[in-house]
Amino acid sequence: MKAVAWHGKRDVRVEEVPDPGIRKPDDVILRVTSSGVCGSDLHLYEVMTPYLNEGNVLGHEPMGIVEEVGPEVSSVAPGDRVVVPFNISCGSCWMCSQGLHSQCETTQNREHGTGASLFGYTTLYGEVPGGQAEYLRVPYGNTLPIKVPEGPPDDRFLFLSDVLPTAWQGVEYADVPDGGTLLVLGLGPIGEMATRIAQHRGHRVLAVDLVSDRLERARSHGVEVYDLREHEKDLVEVVRQATDGRGPDSVLDAVGMEAHGAPIAKAMQQAAGYLPEAIQRKLMETASVDRLHALHLAIELVRRGGTISISGVYGGMADPLPLRVLFDKQVQIRMGQANVLRWVPEIMPLLLDGDPLRTDSFASHHLPLSEAPSAYEQFQKKEDGSFKVVLQP
Ligand SMILES: NC(=O)c1ccc[n+]([C@@H]2O[C@H](COP(=O)([O-])OP(=O)(O)OC[C@H]3O[C@@H](n4cnc5c(N)ncnc54)[C@H](O)[C@@H]3O)[C@@H](O)[C@H]2O)c1
Ligand SMILES: [Zn+2]
Ligand SMILES: [Zn+2]
Repeated sequence: MKAVAWHGKRDVRVEEVPDPGIRKPDDVILRVTSSGVCGSDLHLYEVMTPYLNEGNVLGHEPMGIVEEVGPEVSSVAPGDRVVVPFNISCGSCWMCSQGLHSQCETTQNREHGTGASLFGYTTLYGEVPGGQAEYLRVPYGNTLPIKVPEGPPDDRFLFLSDVLPTAWQGVEYADVPDGGTLLVLGLGPIGEMATRIAQHRGHRVLAVDLVSDRLERARSHGVEVYDLREHEKDLVEVVRQATDGRGPDSVLDAVGMEAHGAPIAKAMQQAAGYLPEAIQRKLMETASVDRLHALHLAIELVRRGGTISISGVYGGMADPLPLRVLFDKQVQIRMGQANVLRWVPEIMPLLLDGDPLRTDSFASHHLPLSEAPSAYEQFQKKEDGSFKVVLQP
């Protein structure tokens, strides 16, 4: 089959790889019809290189049609239409029973001290082949795939794999009080979906980014947007003035480790990329730092006693944080990979009834799998209005 394989920094290729097969009695083989490219894939493309091996198949946002099932699978059958969550969770351990699927105790990667395995996401998370491919092996076939109805287009349900539950959890963890204000940092797919969810819940929503068409998208549905390029110096002041002099009740960081505006950490991330791989890995395990511009902004922006919710992925092990400010302002912080299956029952009714989150028109590009290399490049550079790419194998 054809799949998107990683070959090095900014080098992904579409190539022939072996077809997946049933390996365990509860496996499912999925014929992929749509597969998202995520901001998290950009971290693999640029800075997480020591944790990938050449030929790793990427992708963690797939949906499609069940092609084949193992002998113990009874919840889905060939021909069913399903979406696959990006985290691989067993559905039956203690963590899964608490709704903490991203910490699944069956698929945790204890040798690396990391949480549940993820599709298409580095040796730290199980090195499981991903879904930017024609076919995908899905374990835990009785509990992991999400069955969705026929009828609406793929895009209605595709984002259940990641964007919707991630943004939903981000807003949930932001703990916005009734009548309160949420400020979202970053208007990529995660941040923008979070603004839609927060509006749907009746919150006032502000947002910050530095890409014109992304700011415009959010503005067009009533978000009060701030262009970081115009407010490099006075953002905190301007936002405070707009929020009773205090700052927003809650701030959601939907940017993560590659934030614009952190030149020193960027130089360190880049320099590390040129060291031999074993040294890179050691460095990343002990001394690595993220580009923390967005998180620092969040800490400054949030009102005293407010909440910061972090959806953006961070990977540094020695990140300097202003604990004095956090402590003095009495800030609460919640974060983590989305527990996809935890939120599906709450989100699904919105997809079946009128599509208030407007998922049908969310993606900016639908492309054949063969165009993945240029799609990655454009998405990273945020060129050609690239916002959310859906690959169609
Ligand atoms: N927690 C989870 O489960 C989960 C799931 C999916 C994605 N993510 C993470 O969420 C983040 C966003 O993903 P995405 O797909 O929306 O990616 P993206 O890269 O398209 O979006 C990031 C946005 O942040 C903006 N930005 C950069 N620096 C900024 C700054 N200093 N201040 C304000 N905005 C800034 C960029 O212009 C861009 O629009 C990534 O870190 C991704 O890894 C987390
Ligand atoms: Zn994703
Ligand atoms: Zn589990």
